[in-house]
Amino acid sequence: MQIRELEEKDFGSLRALILSVYDEMPYATTFASRPGGEELDSLMRRKLEGMRESRVADLVAVEGGEIVADCEITKSTESGGVIGIIVAKEHRRRGLGRRLVEKCAAKARQHKMLEVYAEMDDRNEGAAAFFSKCGFREQEGEDELIMVRSL
Ligand SMILES: CC(C)(COP(=O)(O)OP(=O)(O)OC[C@H]1O[C@@H](n2cnc3c(N)ncnc32)[C@H](O)[C@@H]1OP(=O)(O)O)[C@@H](O)C(=O)NCCC(=O)NCCS
Repeated sequence: MQIRELEEKDFGSLRALILSVYDEMPYATTFASRPGGEELDSLMRRKLEGMRESRVADLVAVEGGEIVADCEITKSTESGGVIGIIVAKEHRRRGLGRRLVEKCAAKARQHKMLEVYAEMDDRNEGAAAFFSKCGFREQEGEDELIMVRSL
């Protein structure tokens, strides 16, 4: 398993991963409806642009030439970022998500981010348990579930 930064050649494989997670649990994604190829490609182009401008840290895990996980932290304030992570169903509960979060956090620190937020649907109990294991703590006074950790 290789862990490295997202590259343009990954678009097709990452598109398939995002759609498989959308079909499994749409509420775990940021899409209001099933995204089309063009929407996903423009999202991925924005990721690469953000990486070039040091606003986005994005790492993928690759196995057999396929993207099996993606983690991104996008700068959202002067010193804070928002995290998004997906791991292919057949690769879950093997510590991959946690490894990616730590590597992506290190990259975000290089981009001068000091804290990171995880926003999730309150039906996504697995994600809340996962982020808690990764050192995130629930923020008080929020309607939606927002968790935060220092970098
Ligand atoms: C959340 C997600 C990224 C976790 O990835 P993962 O590779 O399975 O996570 P890890 O194996 O590193 O898990 C580390 C620990 O987190 C906890 N954890 C992870 N998934 C969990 C789940 N579904 N339920 C309860 N605890 C969970 C466990 O304590 C786990 O350690 P353990 O397996 O030894 O018990 C993955 O389930 C996923 O892609 N979900 C769909 C997309 C999503 O919800 N993303 C988050 C919203 S941004």
